[in-house]
Amino acid sequence: MNKVALITGATRGIGKQIAMTLAKEGYDIALNYRRENEELQNAKKEIEANKVECFAMKGDVSNFEDCEELVKQVMEKFGRIDVLVNNAGITKDMLLMRMKQEDFQQVIDVNLVGTFNVTKNVINHMLKARSGRIVNISSVVGVSGNAGQTNYAASKAGIIGFTKSLAKEVASRGILVNAVAPGFIETSMTEVLKDDVKEEIAKSIPLKRMGSSQDVANVVKFLSSEDSSYMTGQVLHVDGGMLM
Ligand SMILES: NC(=O)c1ccc[n+]([C@@H]2O[C@H](COP(=O)([O-])OP(=O)(O)OC[C@H]3O[C@@H](n4cnc5c(N)ncnc54)[C@H](OP(=O)(O)O)[C@@H]3O)[C@@H](O)[C@H]2O)c1
Repeated sequence: MNKVALITGATRGIGKQIAMTLAKEGYDIALNYRRENEELQNAKKEIEANKVECFAMKGDVSNFEDCEELVKQVMEKFGRIDVLVNNAGITKDMLLMRMKQEDFQQVIDVNLVGTFNVTKNVINHMLKARSGRIVNISSVVGVSGNAGQTNYAASKAGIIGFTKSLAKEVASRGILVNAVAPGFIETSMTEVLKDDVKEEIAKSIPLKRMGSSQDVANVVKFLSSEDSSYMTGQVLHVDGGMLM
């Protein structure tokens, strides 16, 4: 029986690359997505090309009932969840003085409450199995802060506190909980930036380039594997040296 990884927000960007990378490692993949689009069918085909099963289910991670149903269906389909990757996330950037209350709330609801909603529904299954890996996708700005991102930075800093607290709660039951803090990664989230802004950012990064989704997926693979079996409550920075 293959191990099973559940990845949220996995039809594109970093989530899709994580799903592909874990599929190559032989995991059956359960992926969650928010909007129906052709990327879903492409992602499913690419994952199944690795001779593993792929189960995809629509759901909004900020909605607790959606997450309850998601986990129920994944358990019905595969009977186990070995790895949970809380990846789904959004930005709604604006200086605080102009930020709408709903834009603050929505970013917290998807990024932080969404991480709670999925984890809360998965954790009992991992506790029963007395094993499991949870990898939460935070961000460099959750540690450093960033002008125009009070909502996003607060949600990502919250994920770090959540990760460390849960790691302490479940370590004795064989469940390891870690976070990954990517820097500037080339996905649709950063596509919105103008080319000259991206060039300036790249110049300021010690490794002189933006990261790729694969750079992040490689570290998630490590945190899901036996190679990291003595690590929990950690935040691994994948940012080309942006934050030292
Ligand atoms: N790109 C970066 O530079 C960077 C840096 C640091 C951290 N991160 C973090 O890495 C993660 C992935 O980012 P990305 O760059 O791959 O972003 P992306 O390309 O915008 O993809 C985000 C994914 O999350 C899904 N999603 C959004 N809201 C959701 C919801 N309410 N319920 C379920 N799924 C939802 C999206 O689904 P739809 O396709 O349906 O919209 C999409 O699949 C995020 O947590 C992000 O904060 C990214």
